[in-house]
Amino acid sequence: KQTINIGMLGLGTVGTGVAKILAANEHCIAQKVGSAVALKKVLVRNAAKPRRVTLDGLLTTDPAAVIDDPEIDIIVELMGGEEPAKDYIIRALKAGKHVVTANKDVVARHGRDLFAAAEENNVDLLFEASVGGGIPIIRPLKQCLAGNRISQVMGIVNGTTNYMLTKMTADKSDYEAVLAEAQQKGYAEADPTADVGGFDAARKIAILASIAFGTRVTLDDVYVEGITGITPQDIEYAGEFGYVIKLLAIAGETDKGVDVRVHPAFIAKNHPLAAVNDVFNAIFVKGDAVGETMFYGRGAGEMPTASAVVADIIDVARDIQHGVASRVLCTCFDNKPLCPIDK
Ligand code: NAP
Ligand code: HSE
Repeated sequence: KQTINIGMLGLGTVGTGVAKILAANEHCIAQKVGSAVALKKVLVRNAAKPRRVTLDGLLTTDPAAVIDDPEIDIIVELMGGEEPAKDYIIRALKAGKHVVTANKDVVARHGRDLFAAAEENNVDLLFEASVGGGIPIIRPLKQCLAGNRISQVMGIVNGTTNYMLTKMTADKSDYEAVLAEAQQKGYAEADPTADVGGFDAARKIAILASIAFGTRVTLDDVYVEGITGITPQDIEYAGEFGYVIKLLAIAGETDKGVDVRVHPAFIAKNHPLAAVNDVFNAIFVKGDAVGETMFYGRGAGEMPTASAVVADIIDVARDIQHGVASRVLCTCFDNKPLCPIDK
């Protein structure tokens, strides 16, 4: 193919970053793929809204104009929320289009249906940006660490709350003011209650646990407690005793199955997680062969998240160029038992 065409659903924080990277690294990406990769249409809610990138003639408010365009090869879903995002993704997969998404709501809740549709239609469905922003974590878990029996996945997976807790600790900033800052920086979800309530982290750890343990873990399986109850006094007392407060997401194998939880925790100031500040995330993965590994980087924001989305786009585009697909499909959202214990 001379050009691989992209239809993007959403031009907000992440979509804008993707458009910027595709333009700034156009030739480098073309060389990596072996053909041009270009935005062809972009779905938005309000076409009259001022944008931070110029995409003349590409914007539409008609989803069919993007999803049903026969010249579009890859749909990149960056709208967020469960519906209509899920419906559009399924429609795209059924139309034989490859899909890249950053949408953890949809992957955590509907991963099984989405991957079934991708498999049936022999197309790719990649979701690296759904967890950890710019940090590579889905591919490492799914591929690079696949030889291990994983015993634990644990860390900080929400940039908004880590930013807030960092500022509330270091500068004694006010909760509401620092949440507004995180929203202004593009870290928070459209509905930030998902961040502060711990549900965004819960979706992410459900996705990671499903992959790590090879069995379906849903949001309902996760114990969730956010940071809404954390007071300045809690932070102050923690400091006096040599701790900082972090919102942790933890998934571990127990003899009863997989235990998955999200809650604030006291972290000793000399623990590596205590030094993970601002929008940074860090995820520890423990495997029987590899031992402990740590993935660290910016967990939210325009360019880091777009970095992960564009990597997925490049992977899919290479598949298209080489006439292969479904290379890295995920059966991890199936209702399979935990991996058997081998001797
Ligand atoms: P956002 O800034 O709120 O942007 C959403 C975009 O989607 C907007 O352009 C909006 O159009 C469009 N949109 C929303 N609903 C629509 C609908 N029904 N029909 C047509 N267009 C619609 O969101 P974001 O922060 O970029 O996040 C996008 C996705 O990435 C979400 O799934 C989020 O969880 C995920 N994610 C975000 C980050 C981050 O740091 N922000 C990091 C990792 C993953 P208008 O512009 O016209 O309103
Ligand atoms: N709202 C999310 C966060 C975006 O703050 O981590 C990245 O998934």
